[in-house]
Amino acid sequence: MKENYMVCNCKQVSYAAIADALHRNKNFSDVLEAFEDVKAVTHCSTGCGGCHDKVLDIISDILMGHDQA
Ligand code: FES
Repeated sequence: MKENYMVCNCKQVSYAAIADALHRNKNFSDVLEAFEDVKAVTHCSTGCGGCHDKVLDIISDILMGHDQA
């Protein structure tokens, strides 16, 4: 299941955790602002940083409505 897909292995943050964090606040002005919020809530991308691009991609997909997870 994509929802359980582990996006950030360092901090054990799943796709669902990122989606949940985003859905707390729909009023982001841009992807980077959303990324900062998701990072603060889930701590994803605060370890090795290797998941950074993956997290950004997922956030932009969700914000663009391309993904209805
Ligand atoms: S995999 Fe996310 S910070 Fe290392």
